[in-house]
Amino acid sequence: MTTAIIGIGNIGTRVVTNLVRGGEKVIAADRTLDRAEQLASELGSNVTVMPVAQAIQQADVIILAIYFDAEQQLIAEYAAALDGKIVVDPSNPIGPDGKGGFNKIIPADQSSGQIIAALLPAGARFVKAFGTLTAKSLGEAAWRAPDLAALFYATDDQDAGDVVAKLIEASGYAPVPIGGADQSIRIEVGGDLHEVGGLGKPVSAQEAAAKI
Ligand SMILES: NC(=O)c1ccc[n+]([C@@H]2O[C@H](COP(=O)([O-])OP(=O)(O)OC[C@H]3O[C@@H](n4cnc5c(N)ncnc54)[C@H](OP(=O)(O)O)[C@@H]3O)[C@@H](O)[C@H]2O)c1
Repeated sequence: MTTAIIGIGNIGTRVVTNLVRGGEKVIAADRTLDRAEQLASELGSNVTVMPVAQAIQQADVIILAIYFDAEQQLIAEYAAALDGKIVVDPSNPIGPDGKGGFNKIIPADQSSGQIIAALLPAGARFVKAFGTLTAKSLGEAAWRAPDLAALFYATDDQDAGDVVAKLIEASGYAPVPIGGADQSIRIEVGGDLHEVGGLGKPVSAQEAAAKI
């Protein structure tokens, strides 16, 4: 399985760094390649940098570490190429509120995960994951001792979920499934299992189990 991370910003940088630290080889892609190339120069030969179209074509698992609106545009542009791929969505449907904070940008009862899942081509295999902690926590809590911190995921596709669970493990976290894609809202900002607006901190798999 080849994994591509699209978007080398706050989250994408941490996902790439954790996976490489765990021994994975990854593709890093971005709108411009300077950040991806800088990261590859820091992390070494397990990071291959390539443009978005080529990354989507070559990877089996595509982690869309870009904002919700950009994700929607990317899916429209690359729909055919995404067919058959495992598509991982870490998005939180939030935008600046003009007062230094953030607001939810979709109705309160909706999740960006379900909206993204519905936009994907029929053969794409949707998994909601890698967005349940802030980028800062995702970097700091990897390989936490004595108990690994939990990273939640949601999917309707058991096999795709197993693949993503292995990536979560390789990143220094305990994978915790919470159910189907319709549960995505619980692991987005404001959801009861998200760090922000929910749990307030990274938790262990045992602590997580009590909340699910
Ligand atoms: N930051 C967090 O703490 C956090 C936590 C959990 C989940 N998330 C979610 O993770 C996603 C990414 O957030 P972030 O904070 O990492 O954002 P970010 O720092 O702005 O990084 C996004 C990266 O993606 C690039 N990009 C944008 N559109 C693209 C496209 N169409 N194709 C390829 N690359 C593109 C951006 O390039 P440019 O700079 O050129 O725009 C930037 O390098 C969001 O959905 C967010 O809700 C974030």
